[in-house]
Amino acid sequence: MKRIPLIIFGAGKVGRALIRQLLEATPLHASRDELAFRIVAWCDRTGAVVDEKGLGAEALRAIGDAKAAGAALAETPLGYRQDDLAAIVDVAGKDGCIVADVTATDATVPALELALRRGYRAATANKVPLTGPQAVFDRLVGSRRFRYESTVGSAVPVIETLRGLLRAADRVDAIRGALSGTLGFICTGLQAGQPFSALVTEAMRRGYTEPDPRTDLGGMDVARKALILARTLGWRLEIGDVAVNSLIPTELAALPPADFLARLPELDAAFAAQVTAAVGEGKVLRYVAELRDGRAAVGMQAVSIETALGRLRGNDNLVAYHTRTYPDEPLVLQGRGAGVDAAAAGVHADMVALAGCGL
Ligand SMILES: NC(=O)c1ccc[n+]([C@@H]2O[C@H](COP(=O)([O-])OP(=O)(O)OC[C@H]3O[C@@H](n4cnc5c(N)ncnc54)[C@H](OP(=O)(O)O)[C@@H]3O)[C@@H](O)[C@H]2O)c1
Repeated sequence: MKRIPLIIFGAGKVGRALIRQLLEATPLHASRDELAFRIVAWCDRTGAVVDEKGLGAEALRAIGDAKAAGAALAETPLGYRQDDLAAIVDVAGKDGCIVADVTATDATVPALELALRRGYRAATANKVPLTGPQAVFDRLVGSRRFRYESTVGSAVPVIETLRGLLRAADRVDAIRGALSGTLGFICTGLQAGQPFSALVTEAMRRGYTEPDPRTDLGGMDVARKALILARTLGWRLEIGDVAVNSLIPTELAALPPADFLARLPELDAAFAAQVTAAVGEGKVLRYVAELRDGRAAVGMQAVSIETALGRLRGNDNLVAYHTRTYPDEPLVLQGRGAGVDAAAAGVHADMVALAGCGL
């Protein structure tokens, strides 16, 4: 049996889902993979729970329940105050260790880099470290002991597929994708004739958006995903090089949230006009990330209903790879690209791959 110590940064929605999945899969990993993950440290913003023998299932469930109820790890019975993640790696790291980053901060970078320097492995759902300076991306991804499938499309194997194309020396001419479930939901609703403002309100009600929906509508989350794809292609770009076309005009971008929501209906007529113009050309609106000729851009496009992107409905993600091997019809991946279980599943799969399991 291969015993793998795990250090988990982040005890939010995805972190807790990851722990649940690992506990559920314990018998399967043992029987099928001869693999036993031991969670030796679990950290949030202010604290950590550390047990070098591995935290038991009961303790992990209790900690997860306490976090879901709003507690800080430092306040749980086994927790202590600690905000230095590199120190946790130093103390709890062991040979063969895997670090999982399910936070949304660049504060994990020193700890991830330390882990890799020590020869450990790391899996992340956190886009922030990979979309900061190129040099950080190079150090993390260049280590070959670092996986980041969940950062784009959650568990849909977008990164692994791209790396497979590159391994086979394929020439990637363009990548086009719908990389935001929230914006997919809005585009589908616009196409059905619903007003933009009502769709944003409904997306907020369903929990699809961040508390301030401008985080999603501004396109930066999609831009980060586009940058990760571009850098995976080997392009050397910074986030400022990605052309971002926000759905929110500048005069509404800086308003207090309540004022912004009150003025949202002002945008309805312009979106309805865009839909009508697109329909007249046999097209639909999609918020598209496009990588072509060394440039990355994200924004609303009218796309033909004859394409996979045009046929997409609801909040699925889709990525189309146009390559030498796939010249006429692109290689297309589609599936649920958000949701905590899907995000955790992508990290879980990465951890099993990093553990050297033959699957
Ligand atoms: N939710 C999704 O559908 C989805 C899909 C794909 C990818 N992702 C990515 O997965 C990551 C986690 O998402 P989430 O929904 O679980 O977010 P979340 O609920 O906000 O949880 C984030 C966790 O990170 C912790 N954290 C923040 N700063 C930290 C620091 N400096 N040191 C240690 N821990 C820190 C937070 O600690 P506290 O609990 O103390 O605040 C919290 O436990 C994000 O990067 C997100 O973009 C999410």
